[in-house]
Amino acid sequence: MALPPDEQIQSSKWYPKYHVAPPHGWLNDPNGFCWYNGQYHIFYQHHPYSVDWGPMHWGHSTSKDFCKWEHQPIAIAPGAFSEGHEWYDWDGCFSGCGFEFEGKLWLMYTSQRFNGAGGVNSSAPNPSAYNPSGSSGGGLVTERQCYAYSEDGIHFTKYEKNPVIDIPNDHLVIANIDFRDPKIWEHNGRYYCVIGNRIHDRSRTQIVLFESDNFFDWTYKSIVAISKPDYSEGTMWECPGFAHFGDDYVMIISPQHVPPQGRLFHNIHQAGYMVGKLDYAQGVFTHGEFFTFDYGFDFYATTMMKHPDTGRYFIIAWMAAWQSPFPEQADGWATMLTIPRELKMRDGKVLTVPPEELKALRKTQAHHENLKLDKPTKLEGVKGSVGELVVNIDPKQAFEIDLRVGESDNEKTMFSYEPNERVFALNRDFAGAGGKGVREFEIEPCDNIEIRAFLDTSSIEIFINDGQYVTTTRVYPRDTSDDIVFIPKAGTLEIKSVDYYSFE
Ligand code: FRU
Repeated sequence: MALPPDEQIQSSKWYPKYHVAPPHGWLNDPNGFCWYNGQYHIFYQHHPYSVDWGPMHWGHSTSKDFCKWEHQPIAIAPGAFSEGHEWYDWDGCFSGCGFEFEGKLWLMYTSQRFNGAGGVNSSAPNPSAYNPSGSSGGGLVTERQCYAYSEDGIHFTKYEKNPVIDIPNDHLVIANIDFRDPKIWEHNGRYYCVIGNRIHDRSRTQIVLFESDNFFDWTYKSIVAISKPDYSEGTMWECPGFAHFGDDYVMIISPQHVPPQGRLFHNIHQAGYMVGKLDYAQGVFTHGEFFTFDYGFDFYATTMMKHPDTGRYFIIAWMAAWQSPFPEQADGWATMLTIPRELKMRDGKVLTVPPEELKALRKTQAHHENLKLDKPTKLEGVKGSVGELVVNIDPKQAFEIDLRVGESDNEKTMFSYEPNERVFALNRDFAGAGGKGVREFEIEPCDNIEIRAFLDTSSIEIFINDGQYVTTTRVYPRDTSDDIVFIPKAGTLEIKSVDYYSFE
């Protein structure tokens, strides 16, 4: 199907107003998140020729302030088989990172190359990358790490000596397939790079560490972390990265196929972190358990950056799940990224907080306080589909807040709290087109619940208590479904304050 013109796509009803989405076509993981030349750069896995996953390109957007993103030309595309060059990535340019080195912006990405059935330059997708069943390509694909560089942050050239990280000789340790998503950082004058991987028999997944003195010659160092052999921590850890707060290191990973545990892990794949200590001499990360970054439906393939001037860490993720329907495909585009979140560490856990910068999106405000509600209530000025809702409430009460509520029928996205078990539930059974279901999470005892919900045309991201818990979902209501309703669930509901900020 030929795609409609960009202008038509970008004015379609579910196209976001302040999130990154592709100008047209398909998007998945965010890549190469960095600060370069006075602005933020986010790249993303992109198939520009259709609304489905296909041979991967790197799409690109830039922002000075996280509030307004600008589309940029495609940064990297698979090499042309017909012209016989760039043999290493004829089948796609998978996820990776961005890093400023000696004034240039370097992107390190995973090159894809089919070697067997399916044919060289086959457009068949790599099954290991996303097949929900977890079956892998059985040696049909070779993944290596490559560079592309730029002097202006917009136009990129593939590095002449690609690939820069090939499969090490130690084939017993590192399978040639499932060797992807490099992330570079610098520590005490040396460069380090982690890559997601599985061991040769695919019974465990691991993160492998490479190091370099000069940024170009990389040597294999170690298996820095490895999963338990029972698949309880997933089958493949994608999109790794390390952040640190003093001596506390945070390993970010996106594990595929973690089995559900109680209320947790009901999406096909997870995105989260482990906290621990990184021994650079041995190349080993000693860590605690895995925690999720998000308790909702649509959050995967987290990418992270450190601001070179302030040292602040930010993450962005793919706001989707492989198993979801994407109704916006009918309009010529598919999927989008989350808002950036700032990483903070408190009591051994990582908080993901909406950055202060996003307050600049606020245009108008409606404020209410000391409310006592006996029935479902709409509040004056508290209404919208592109804005931010902030509610402070005593956690001893049961309540529900419905978002994106329609006038005449029961279209709504329900967010409720039950105080006995301290459980929040996000229910999208009546949210419109798109996926259905409920996601729940339990919170620790607290004196006040602060809810910050970011609404865009087809997404809701809800932050509880300064990023301690976050739940994210795509929703596909009618554009006229923009009411917000506060519902007491047991007697009178007392709400300390409600603020609604419209971004339009
Ligand atoms: C994660 C992922 C990455 C890979 C990319 C391919 O969603 O499977 O591991 O690099 O998508 O598009």
